[in-house]
Amino acid sequence: MTRRQATSSILSGAALIATAGTAAAQPGPIKLPPPRPEGGISLTAALKLRRSSRAYSQRPLTPQILSDLLWAAFGINRPSGDRTAPYWRHVMVMDIYAAMANGVWLYEPKLHMLVSHLPNDIRAKTGLQDFVATAPLNLVYVAHGERMTDVSPEDRRLYASVDAGFIGQNVYLYCASQGLATVFRAAVDYAGLAKTMNLPSQQFVTFAQTVGYPAS
Ligand SMILES: Cc1cc2nc3c(=O)[nH]c(=O)nc-3n(C[C@H](O)[C@H](O)[C@H](O)COP(=O)(O)O)c2cc1C
Repeated sequence: MTRRQATSSILSGAALIATAGTAAAQPGPIKLPPPRPEGGISLTAALKLRRSSRAYSQRPLTPQILSDLLWAAFGINRPSGDRTAPYWRHVMVMDIYAAMANGVWLYEPKLHMLVSHLPNDIRAKTGLQDFVATAPLNLVYVAHGERMTDVSPEDRRLYASVDAGFIGQNVYLYCASQGLATVFRAAVDYAGLAKTMNLPSQQFVTFAQTVGYPAS
């Protein structure tokens, strides 16, 4: 079995666990296939295609697309461990969670892995618009407020929002280059989503972003 096939079968196995409604067994981490170093269209062509979409197919994303997307979003692009998006004061504040039918997963860039956070489908809770419940992926950008020392709560939200915005634009451009649909979202019940995700009190949701194949 190739690594890609193995990952694919792990993903579908986790999906089976979720759809069978079995009592909340926490699946193990998923090692994503390596992000593809080449491909896509030119940056200029992607900029021409970048747009927000609100109509999604329910088709799940492939492990390779998930891998490439998360790497583009905030993956490691240098031996120093730094990322594809700039971030405030070189302090790593942002976590990306992937809410899918098979649960909520934390993206772990160092190992390029998805770590199970919750085994249930919370997609409907990631936003106030109907499409979020059935689109295959909702990214949730969560900030660690406790890592932002010496700044006011207002500035914490400001800097974390800028971090999230850069990540969001990476996602927009990756999606444009691959013919995927996406929309960055503030229409979120922030307190409700933080509760659903069992976030510690110092962590907060900045924005969410839906990704999927366009509805045909
Ligand atoms: C900070 C921010 C919050 C947004 N929130 C939402 C949202 O909650 N729901 C939504 O459908 N679009 C949302 N959008 C997308 C904008 O509506 C969209 O980018 C804008 O209408 C321009 O359209 P375009 O992205 O297709 O160029 C948001 C965009 C930004 C930058």
